[in-house]
Amino acid sequence: MKDLNIGLIGYGFMGRTHSNAYKRVNDFFDVEYRPVLKAICGRNAENAQAFANQWQYESVETDWQALIARDDIDAIDICTPNNTHAEIAIAAAKAGKIVLLEKPLSMDTAEGETMVKAIEESGVANTVFYNYRRVPAVTLAKQIIDDGKLGRIFHYRANFLQDWTISEDLPQGGAALWRLDVDAAGSGVTGDLLAHCLDTAIWLNGKVTSVTAMTETFIKERMHTLTGEVQEVGIDDACAFLCRFENGSLGLFESTRYARGHKALYTLEINGEHASIKWDLHDLHRLDYFDHRDDSLTRGWRSVHVTDGDMPYMGNWWVPGLQIGYEHTFVHQVADFLTNLVKGESTAPTFADALETQKVCDAVLESARTGQWVEIA
Ligand SMILES: NC(=O)c1ccc[n+]([C@@H]2O[C@H](COP(=O)([O-])OP(=O)(O)OC[C@H]3O[C@@H](n4cnc5c(N)ncnc54)[C@H](O)[C@@H]3O)[C@@H](O)[C@H]2O)c1
Repeated sequence: MKDLNIGLIGYGFMGRTHSNAYKRVNDFFDVEYRPVLKAICGRNAENAQAFANQWQYESVETDWQALIARDDIDAIDICTPNNTHAEIAIAAAKAGKIVLLEKPLSMDTAEGETMVKAIEESGVANTVFYNYRRVPAVTLAKQIIDDGKLGRIFHYRANFLQDWTISEDLPQGGAALWRLDVDAAGSGVTGDLLAHCLDTAIWLNGKVTSVTAMTETFIKERMHTLTGEVQEVGIDDACAFLCRFENGSLGLFESTRYARGHKALYTLEINGEHASIKWDLHDLHRLDYFDHRDDSLTRGWRSVHVTDGDMPYMGNWWVPGLQIGYEHTFVHQVADFLTNLVKGESTAPTFADALETQKVCDAVLESARTGQWVEIA
């Protein structure tokens, strides 16, 4: 077993999911690397130390550049807001560190291209945490599609609905609210939520070739936590778009943080010539499947409980019938990453894969601005 010394930046939501994944991966997956929680990096020393104590990190850094400069760190894991991704990832790649990065890749396509260039020039292994690919039911959907069971695909439909920004009293910017600040987030629901839907869609259904979109910012001004002033809101609160895929199918996507009652409702449905599949994050261990070729006496939607040992990732967990959850998707990505690292390979979605998603996000925002269809280069 080889040690892989991790330096993780950002001790928020994703800092916890990634730390959990590193701690659990060797207990459940037979991989040759053992992640070592070598250092946690955050700007507030007291908070970083508290996180280090809770998760058993060996040391604390308050400056990510100092972390990257350390000889005892093999891999830099970036769990900080979107506007920090490029600078940290490029510096880490240039220092020859392995790079694991939270989504989205970048603030926009141009920045993403500089990141892909830097990572490819350095040749370091990399991955971007579009973790929904590794929900076993979603991985099973990929296998079903690749097996040709759906036949020609006509429609791809996805939603990602939340309701946490409806109050106009909610400020923008700063800790926990950086997602509402366009300078920190790059965009609103498009880069935050639709980027997830797009990564899954491109993986399952191939390239998106053109889009037409509309966005809305329902609350135009919010107090900014960092300046104390009421400022214009620059993010998209809601976005809906139509698209065409290279395989000839049509896509329909919607995301909002104004769908009262919905907390993180990510759903997708794919309709093919022979069969359809549906998936819902709130019921993530199930994949709904309808096959028109079934016997007419029993034909209908079936709800596949994705828990059997021969289903994706499930042989590594409990026994058939027992479910796993959200945090396991990160364990799966780390397990795949460590497996591929033995061969010196990166793990999909790589920086280059994530750039494809970024290009579609940019096209969506451009179309919403111009009111025109936008082709994706
Ligand atoms: N894969 C997913 O499902 C998923 C879910 C949530 C967030 N994300 C992504 O993860 C990233 C982080 O999001 P989060 O929800 O964990 O945010 P968060 O606000 O919970 O945590 C961000 C952390 O980064 C720290 N930070 C900010 N600037 C820093 C700097 N310059 N140096 C060091 N630390 C710094 C903050 O102090 C905080 O600890 C974002 O890019 C987000 O899009 C992905």
